[in-house]
Amino acid sequence: PVRLTGTKYGCGTGGCGACTVMISRYTPTTKRISHHAANACLIPICSLYGASVTTIEGIGSTKTRIHPVQERIAKCHGTQCGFCTPGMVMSIYTLLRNHPEPSLEQIMEALGGNLCRCTGYRPIIDACKTFCKTSGCCQSKENGVCCLDQGINELTEFEEGNKTSTKLFSEEEFLPLDPTQELIFPPELMIMAEKQPQRTRIFVGDRMTWISPTTLTELLEAKFNYPQAPVVMGNTSVGPEMKFKGVFHPVIISPAGIEELNFATCSHNELTLGAGLSLTQVKYILGEVIQNLPEEKTRMYQALLKHLRTLAGSQIRNMASLGGHIMSRHLDSDLNPLLAVGNCTLNLLSKKGKRQVPLNEEFLRRCPSADLKPEEILISVNIPHSRKWEFVSGFRQAQRQQNALAIVNSGMRVFFGEGDGIIRELCISYGGVGPTTVCAKNSCQKLIGRPWNEEMLDAACRLVLDEVTLPGSAPGGRVEFKRTLIISFLFKFYLEVSQFLKRMDPAHSPSLADKDASALEDLHSRHHSSTLKYQSVDSKQLPQDPIGHPIMHLSGIKHATGEAIYCDDMPTVDQELFLSFVTSSRAHAKIVSTDLSEALSLPGVVDIVTEEHLRGVNSFSIFTNPEELLRTEEVSCVGQLVCAVIAESEVQAKRAAERVKVVYEDLQPLILTIEEAIQHSSFFEPERKLEYGNVDEAFKGVDQILEGEIHMGGQEHFYMETQSMLVVPKGEDQEIDVYVSTQYPKYIQDIVASTLKLPANKVMCHVKRVGGAFGGKIFKTGILAAITAFAANKHGRAVRCVLERGEDMLITGGRHPYLGKYKVKSDHTNSGSPQVIEMGLLKMENAYKFPNLRCRAWACKTNGPSNTALRGFGFPQVGLITESCITEVAARCGLAPEKVRTINMYKEIDQTPYKQEINAKNLIQCWKECMAKSSYTLRKAAVEKFNSKNYWKKKGLAVVPLKFPIGLGSITLSQAAALVHIYLDGSVLVTHGGIELGQGVHTKMIQVVSRELRMPMSNIHLRGTSTETVPNTNSSGGSVVADVNGLAVKDACQTLLKRLEPIISKNPQGTWKDWAQAAFDESISLSATGYFRGYESDMNWETGEGHPFHYFVYGAACSEVEIDCLTGAHKNIRTDIVMDIGYSINPALDIGQIEGAFIQGVGLYTIEELQYSPQGVLHTRGPNQYKIPAVCDIPTELHISFLPPSESSNTLYSSKGLGESGLFLGCSVFFAIHDAVNAARRERGLSGPLKLNSPLTPEKIRMACEDKFTKMSSFINPPW
Ligand SMILES: Cc1cc2nc3c(=O)[nH]c(=O)nc-3n(C[C@H](O)[C@H](O)[C@H](O)COP(=O)(O)OP(=O)(O)OC[C@H]3O[C@@H](n4cnc5c(N)ncnc54)[C@H](O)[C@@H]3O)c2cc1C
Ligand code: FES
Ligand code: FES
Repeated sequence: PVRLTGTKYGCGTGGCGACTVMISRYTPTTKRISHHAANACLIPICSLYGASVTTIEGIGSTKTRIHPVQERIAKCHGTQCGFCTPGMVMSIYTLLRNHPEPSLEQIMEALGGNLCRCTGYRPIIDACKTFCKTSGCCQSKENGVCCLDQGINELTEFEEGNKTSTKLFSEEEFLPLDPTQELIFPPELMIMAEKQPQRTRIFVGDRMTWISPTTLTELLEAKFNYPQAPVVMGNTSVGPEMKFKGVFHPVIISPAGIEELNFATCSHNELTLGAGLSLTQVKYILGEVIQNLPEEKTRMYQALLKHLRTLAGSQIRNMASLGGHIMSRHLDSDLNPLLAVGNCTLNLLSKKGKRQVPLNEEFLRRCPSADLKPEEILISVNIPHSRKWEFVSGFRQAQRQQNALAIVNSGMRVFFGEGDGIIRELCISYGGVGPTTVCAKNSCQKLIGRPWNEEMLDAACRLVLDEVTLPGSAPGGRVEFKRTLIISFLFKFYLEVSQFLKRMDPAHSPSLADKDASALEDLHSRHHSSTLKYQSVDSKQLPQDPIGHPIMHLSGIKHATGEAIYCDDMPTVDQELFLSFVTSSRAHAKIVSTDLSEALSLPGVVDIVTEEHLRGVNSFSIFTNPEELLRTEEVSCVGQLVCAVIAESEVQAKRAAERVKVVYEDLQPLILTIEEAIQHSSFFEPERKLEYGNVDEAFKGVDQILEGEIHMGGQEHFYMETQSMLVVPKGEDQEIDVYVSTQYPKYIQDIVASTLKLPANKVMCHVKRVGGAFGGKIFKTGILAAITAFAANKHGRAVRCVLERGEDMLITGGRHPYLGKYKVKSDHTNSGSPQVIEMGLLKMENAYKFPNLRCRAWACKTNGPSNTALRGFGFPQVGLITESCITEVAARCGLAPEKVRTINMYKEIDQTPYKQEINAKNLIQCWKECMAKSSYTLRKAAVEKFNSKNYWKKKGLAVVPLKFPIGLGSITLSQAAALVHIYLDGSVLVTHGGIELGQGVHTKMIQVVSRELRMPMSNIHLRGTSTETVPNTNSSGGSVVADVNGLAVKDACQTLLKRLEPIISKNPQGTWKDWAQAAFDESISLSATGYFRGYESDMNWETGEGHPFHYFVYGAACSEVEIDCLTGAHKNIRTDIVMDIGYSINPALDIGQIEGAFIQGVGLYTIEELQYSPQGVLHTRGPNQYKIPAVCDIPTELHISFLPPSESSNTLYSSKGLGESGLFLGCSVFFAIHDAVNAARRERGLSGPLKLNSPLTPEKIRMACEDKFTKMSSFINPPW
């Protein structure tokens, strides 16, 4: 096998871009070579005949030379865990093959289909920008003025110190991009294309036959012979159905390079597009046509082009065909609603002859009389030019602005009589509201003959709402939101057309009301810009000492070349088996019976591990709660492990797992929400309580008491590398090796040892690196590994288990959802008595001093998935509750929220509710600098001015402080160990207990060794983490991995140095090789362990007092957003972050942690929404349903700066741990949206408290901006 493991598999559905490769083809007729990026996970291998596929390995490697894209993405710190990196590199590489000097727009477009969960995209964009001809300024399009000239961004309110640096990389050292040095298209493929006769190619497999006709006649023949076979073009619709929905096609017809399907002609009245054109080609053709035709003829093309810009990512657009798109008739198709209103016709062909059918509602509903016959092929589609008095527009709203299927979309067309403003033709259609595109035919019919005015609009809204009915149980729910969008789009169309009529006939058409103009503006768009500021190293620091320098992630280049090895990249072990889990499909049920017979009879199946095999070892205690590995009698949520199929191959294991039949009997009660848990008093023990001051006394005689609640949804980790493991029995002395993607090797060792009834010294766990974890690769990973190890041990063969994205999301659980209820006394000074939940109690007060406080917390037991740690562990939830409470107090008191925040913030020397001392000087400093650097006051005024002029668009601005406590609450949990060897050639090998999750801990550890031993980093190596080298490690999490392991590494180095000091002082000019040899000759050990006892910590829950944390990370963030009140869309305009991080060990890695966490927080608080069925089945099981931030979500302007380090502490070189804290700052975007929504509501005369839950999705934003449309669409008598 070629073993090209660089291309990654993150989802298998085309939604993440990790598998991006470049496909090149040669067309003999035009003699042209084309290159496009594509998602390897959806490309059928048979479709690649004659094509050249370039994977990441093909463009460069450390063994030959690295490509400039690889170099720049690594050196600009655009990689953390590195799992997304090959996909990112290939997207940009392909762009550069087509456009060696791309514009920023082209870069953003090329990256639109690639997800990264770690970096927050800014460094990736910065790396790509280095290829642009012009970079530097923001290239603002807004008012044609550059942001740097607008005054508002001059940091007038803040004086900068002179000891700061702003560059994290130096462009001067980059290899130049030389397009002449790129790989050439393989000449043998060119010759083959030229010489080989073109005839149908047939590939026959065990279960399927693939037929690739190369001429139209052969295609028609094939379709005639196999009328039921799908015509696979891009495979982006058929592929996912076959992979994940159990659809099977024994025969597939896939036309290859048939000219009659790949053409475009433009006549005087219509454009005809071949069904085989890719959506990217269609986009290009439309752009050309719009340029060449008079404007009035191009309105349909403009509308189509607008939708094509946001439809999926560029890889999918490169693969998907126009014909496949139309024929799939997806309910959320973006193009069909437009084509359906445009009088388009479909040109069909079969052996029996030609035919045309209209692309109308009947076709979309698959009415047999209007549909293709099984033997017919769609050849092309005719799209008529628009006419003089005709207007066409398309609208869409999705959970995310780009690369997300629409929640509702629409196509609308109107045609007026010559100059009379009377409707002659009207067509409106919607997607997302029924099983396929729906046309509001009757409503349109009734409006014909009416003038285009407000009465018509009002009637149109009512008619359409009546006609496009959405049952309460509509798939995906959100019924009122969808109904509101239906008419909000209509209103936008009404305004667009009115504006158009005014332009066409100024004398007879009324002007648009000033108030309405903003409905037609696009949301803020500018080019990305960012500034970063960090402390330069002290001029007295030794030049070779790397501490404090922005050193690149040590694996950066290997991430970018695909040479970094993840668990699933490990070569197959001889006789290796694959394990696939069968999971529960019910949320609360008894297992009545399990029938394995059919699954066991399938080819390749070796065994099925059930709870019977595990008797006696089927549970393991995590903390105090024992957890079952495989369910025995009952299941208590969907996705619990029932049994595990082991087979010779992955495909066989998965196929068999689908055939295991489990019969359930539902049990009551079914508790899915926190509210239901409260109703059933379904809680875990113990309840926790924290009290400070005297709350009862404080409430006495107060007239302003405010009570409220906020609900906060959970979050999926969405690490890019799914749970993966390989267990290898060594065949001797019962030894077993576990290679696994985990944060906690010791735990894996323990659970595997317990399941196999072996002592821990027989089980070794090894972790090279992890493709993102965020808290999700601890406990569930242990259970998966234990069962995999059991299977391996039972059969004496290696077993691999890698979860599909959907399985991973179903099985593993994520961040805990919270319900926070608070009751506060509100006056103008310090106040508060919030009630919040669970272990977040110790962090709930965030940056505020509450003189009287009582918090109680219960953890609910539900039939939802068992949740676990996720970056921030409780803080992002409780912090939001506190900030919501503050925002509400401010509203109640008529004060600005930032004022209430300032008043209530900790003073310099203060005490927390659990009576730990705190010096909040740096908190106040961060806050002040953030206010100043963001020009808060100036911008607040600008936002108000904008809001006063724009009725349908609103801006919002918010600033939040951060006090993030660091410490794990116990000295035991923060102890750490390390092992350092010096070899006789002077090279050093270091190991420690921390896991490389992308945060760069190994890089920092090498920096530590380099400083301590005063040797260059290149002399030091780190191979990975293993229970064999450093035993009894703690879990890597809680922001302290580098802190505690670094102290252990430092300790080991100091031990060595002490031993070697006499030798070094005897020969100070010697090299490490000399010293090592001398030490060896004198029998001095060159190996040392290092140890750190852990941070002292105590907390007495009886008294509610203690010293649970070692130190606090302080910060503040200010964010500005713009919202569209009619659709609920929002744009993150700008964020300023100021953090106190002590002395940074590596500013590049630290900035990476802050901005990556911040963007993950933006996702948490705004778009990441887990959706369940009423029976508790998770719907959001992949990137196509669950939206993490994409490149379009990052603030257009991002400024990050660090406070100058002020005090030394006993942490590692006085640095601070930063993994988690930045996440909470994402809530500044939540409160900025809150502010914008408030502005909209105030203008609409709505007063009273505004209750907004998290995540603040387009649905919540739209529905909170109440207006006549939300009223009109709300049901008086809901039909459910
Ligand atoms: C990750 C992802 C994101 C997406 N995002 C969006 C989005 O934002 N908006 C949106 O609108 N869509 C989106 N889609 C859907 C996408 O637009 C469609 O899957 C795509 O257009 C289908 O084209 P295809 O060539 O891949 O079809 P294929 O999968 O190859 O074929 C689809 C169907 O069309 C039939 N067919 C194809 N060509 C012909 C022909 N010439 N004659 C007869 N029958 C034919 C086939 O028989 C088959 O049944 C997304 C898809 C993915 C995977
Ligand atoms: S693995 Fe192919 S797009 Fe995610
Ligand atoms: S670096 Fe992008 S997903 Fe980890």
